[in-house]
Amino acid sequence: MKIDINEIINSAAGEIAAATLQTLPELKLKYLGKDGEITKILKTLKILKPDERKELGQKANEAKKIIEQALENKEKELSQKAIQEKTASQKVDISPIFYFPVNSGHFHIITKTIEDISQIFISLGFKIAKGPEIETDWYNFQALNHPEDHPARDVQDTFYLQGSKDLLRTHTSPVQVHVMQNQKPPVRVIVPGRVFRNEASDASHSSTFHQIEGLFVNQNVTFVDLKSTLASFVKKFFGQNISLRFRPSFFPFTEPSAEVDVQCFFCGGKGCGVCKQSGWIEILGCGMVHPNVFKAVEYDSENYTGFAFGMGVERIAMLKYGIDDIRLFYENDLRFLRQF
Ligand code: DAH
Repeated sequence: MKIDINEIINSAAGEIAAATLQTLPELKLKYLGKDGEITKILKTLKILKPDERKELGQKANEAKKIIEQALENKEKELSQKAIQEKTASQKVDISPIFYFPVNSGHFHIITKTIEDISQIFISLGFKIAKGPEIETDWYNFQALNHPEDHPARDVQDTFYLQGSKDLLRTHTSPVQVHVMQNQKPPVRVIVPGRVFRNEASDASHSSTFHQIEGLFVNQNVTFVDLKSTLASFVKKFFGQNISLRFRPSFFPFTEPSAEVDVQCFFCGGKGCGVCKQSGWIEILGCGMVHPNVFKAVEYDSENYTGFAFGMGVERIAMLKYGIDDIRLFYENDLRFLRQF
């Protein structure tokens, strides 16, 4: 029997070169499997003469190695090519299939400002009080010592409810009256709340906005208490280095009355467009509670004194955060809200 091992090697090499990943296992069987070409030769060795057996055995084992190696190389080559083709044809999208946005919400800047201001007064011993947004003329004006012909009573300034004398409160001051009617001194409250004015909206006016009212009534409350309380608030809220001044003013429900100005932070007091060249910005009204207000709530003004103050939340937030248009607070544009 004449067996040409080289021929087997050659035909295996040719077939392996043309193989695919699918046909490669078949070729492995065909040459090296239990009934494969090389295996068959190795099985016949025992019937040969010793010298023939040795020669053919060596050749067959070499051929086995060569074919094994060729199969292995081809498999590597083909699987690498397959991976390359796959990555070239597919752009791999590594983003997760389900995308959960992780933005968490936060309080509106007006809510946050009310909270910040309230916390300072709470730390000074004040409690929070609330009152109705719909008021009678008596609570909003009369009990607060407004004369009958006060201009704020005009429909130009106040929203009256249809067919009624009731109105939307124009300030949080009427809550002072409710609180004093319901409790004996000492009284120490702040009142955050919404107020309404019948006016056209522009960059600094809105028909709905927020105020925080303050009231402290006890025996021997003086203007010094008012000054130290408000100075302490201003420094805690705007910063220890801020300068402030009390400027005489007028409100019907306080006597004497004052307004608190802070040094303009935009120009450092030199004078600019924001402070109208004065170097100062008004942030709140205040004063000693007028005896007529005590009379309206049946407090004995011989025995008790008190101070009150009121500030606009939007105005204070605009100053603190450098916001130049009050309407931004109500438009709910997320690009604005997310800055705070
Ligand atoms: N109610 C005033 C306003 O709306 C603000 C105010 C001023 C409140 C002086 C006060 C005060 O309690 O004492 O303009």
